[in-house]
Amino acid sequence: MKAPVRVAVTGAAGQIGYSLLFRIASGDMLGPDQPVILQLLEVPPAMDAVQGVMMELDDCAFPLLVGLQASDQAEEAFRDADYILLVGAKPRGPGMERKDLLEANAAIFSVQGKAMNAVASRDVRVLAVGNPANTNALIAQRNAPDLDPRCFTAMTRLDHNRALAQLANRTGTHVTDIQKLTVWGNHSATQYPDISHAVVDGKAAGDLVDQAWLEESFIPTVQQRGAAIIKARGQSSAASAASAAIDHMRDWTLGTQEDDWVSMAIPSDGSYGITEGIIYSFPVRCSGGRYEIVQDLAIDDFSRERMSATEQELIEERDAVQHLLP
Ligand code: NAD
Ligand code: LMR
Repeated sequence: MKAPVRVAVTGAAGQIGYSLLFRIASGDMLGPDQPVILQLLEVPPAMDAVQGVMMELDDCAFPLLVGLQASDQAEEAFRDADYILLVGAKPRGPGMERKDLLEANAAIFSVQGKAMNAVASRDVRVLAVGNPANTNALIAQRNAPDLDPRCFTAMTRLDHNRALAQLANRTGTHVTDIQKLTVWGNHSATQYPDISHAVVDGKAAGDLVDQAWLEESFIPTVQQRGAAIIKARGQSSAASAASAAIDHMRDWTLGTQEDDWVSMAIPSDGSYGITEGIIYSFPVRCSGGRYEIVQDLAIDDFSRERMSATEQELIEERDAVQHLLP
């Protein structure tokens, strides 16, 4: 058994938290040989509910769960944290875009960025799930100047997984038959799910589907999936979001498959001409606990136009929260 690691989760009493915590504690995120200490953060009115979740975690008798605590103070919850999953934030309702949450949620990420700067492990891995996730990750990062900027990521793995499922359905294959799919940009309706490098059962995906399906069905379905779920369920996605968060952290920590890559929103280093510093989703490979952008993919005009549109939206979101970016 390895030495225990500390995993902080915000919004622990929320819907995503309720799916996420049990999977972290069972070893789905960091592996069957990695004991974890869970450090939960909630707002004061939700502390009773958090106690209930903790009772249930106890009642699972998870062999890998070796510590469990909750707080309404970020500096307590983030102390020495090796992993921080920033889930606590308001979800959108019907008819809203995720960026409509910017005003309500941005302040949370500035306070929490400062707290992790003060107390988290210097090698912490941070994942922003709360929306608008990319810009919230940027706010946290810029408020944590003593941490490596590359510690901060946002979640587009749910979009990646949604795109895999759509393409598998269309081609009559299984998600495990598909490699090298990419979601570029923002976790929003401008995101660009790109199959131009994807391989399905050893064949180029572009040869298996037609352009009309791609433009009129695949791309809009993936872009609008969150809204479709809110319409159907009356609440935003939760179990699938938790599952994607597990996938994101697991692959970042334990590595991606040899012949594949995943989509992660990370600080742009200017690759593919994307504005430096914004938290933009790229194709990445992970190994040894580090991620690297997959380089030198050919980008045609169709892709470039969509990559630029989602980049532009992230620049606008960044500019709208300048006052929170020291
Ligand atoms: P929820 O309302 O069920 O739970 C959110 C929880 O966060 C609540 O318990 C609330 O008390 C808590 N919270 C609020 N402010 C907090 C703070 N400052 N510190 C700690 N906790 C705080 O919402 P949910 O369905 O769990 O969704 C959470 C967020 O995740 C939303 O913003 C939602 O839009 C987002 N989301 C993102 C993705 C993605 O793919 N990136 C997917 C699904 C949902
Ligand atoms: C999702 O993609 O399901 C989440 O971001 C929730 C939402 O607001 O769509």
